[in-house]
Amino acid sequence: MDLDLRVLVTRKIPEIGLKILQKHFEVDANPESESLTAPALRQRLARADAVLCLLTDRIDPAAIDAAPNLKVISNHAVGYDNIDVPYATSKNIAVCNTPGVLTEATADFAWALLMSITRRIPEGEKLMRSGEFHGWDPLMLLGADLQGKTLGIIGAGRIGSAMAHRSTGWQMKVLYHSRSTNTELEKALNARRVALEELLQTADFISIHLPLTAETRHLINKDTLQMMNPGAYLINTARGAIIDEAALVEALEKKTIAGAGLDVYEYEPKMVAGLKDLQNVILAPHIGSATIDTRNKMASIAAENIVRVLNGEPALSQVN
Ligand code: DGY
Repeated sequence: MDLDLRVLVTRKIPEIGLKILQKHFEVDANPESESLTAPALRQRLARADAVLCLLTDRIDPAAIDAAPNLKVISNHAVGYDNIDVPYATSKNIAVCNTPGVLTEATADFAWALLMSITRRIPEGEKLMRSGEFHGWDPLMLLGADLQGKTLGIIGAGRIGSAMAHRSTGWQMKVLYHSRSTNTELEKALNARRVALEELLQTADFISIHLPLTAETRHLINKDTLQMMNPGAYLINTARGAIIDEAALVEALEKKTIAGAGLDVYEYEPKMVAGLKDLQNVILAPHIGSATIDTRNKMASIAAENIVRVLNGEPALSQVN
């Protein structure tokens, strides 16, 4: 136990993560389920040797400058666009994340969105609860089949690949757009790597699995949405700002695409005007990785990364 070292945990996390940290360090844990304000975060960082933070915390240069002793920023997430990694690196601070453990849960959830929107489950549920179901109707809530259709994966890393692998149940053709060739996916699923335009023009279901970077911000915009066919569905469990949300609302309103399933938002937790009024979109509150086992694993890895870095050992997962 090195009680000279102090770790800030910015928000309530699964207990297992706190327990790991408390065995080794003095822990300043925010017990609330709400993020610290930027000034409160800076104030509590002032004495921290490490911070376990969430994707809802902005770890920008001002926050980093407020923490003269900081040696590690450990994000309780695989994505780390909330952290200014180049700035942290320039200050010799390790930045860590939690890849791998949330792959299957997130891919499952992307499929859950895809199936919910194509089979119109939220609309059906609303009908039942409102007492407006008056019996079986051959034309009620008709949706789209999956069997034999084309799945387009944008970003064929861990989660994109897991999403693609789940398509075998429906004998789908798989297209993917990715910076590099995914040989495993090509061998296992006969997947074909294509340009973004071809994927958008051909796929019946498109699922986004990219990190948010300057290059991927608004990758899906008015122009690229226009390339999708009117029967196609768009699923996003990655980061909201990869889609220009206002352009998506317009496409859904004009029905130039059939529908969308969203777990993430450009201005999270807010949504752009009009989105929540549409029937052809299903909206989830960023819960792709929200299973008990997965969240426990994320908390454990985020804590273990801190233990390792502060003990001078390599982290389980460091991004810089
Ligand atoms: C992540 O880890 O980046 C997800 O968005 C939340 O699990």
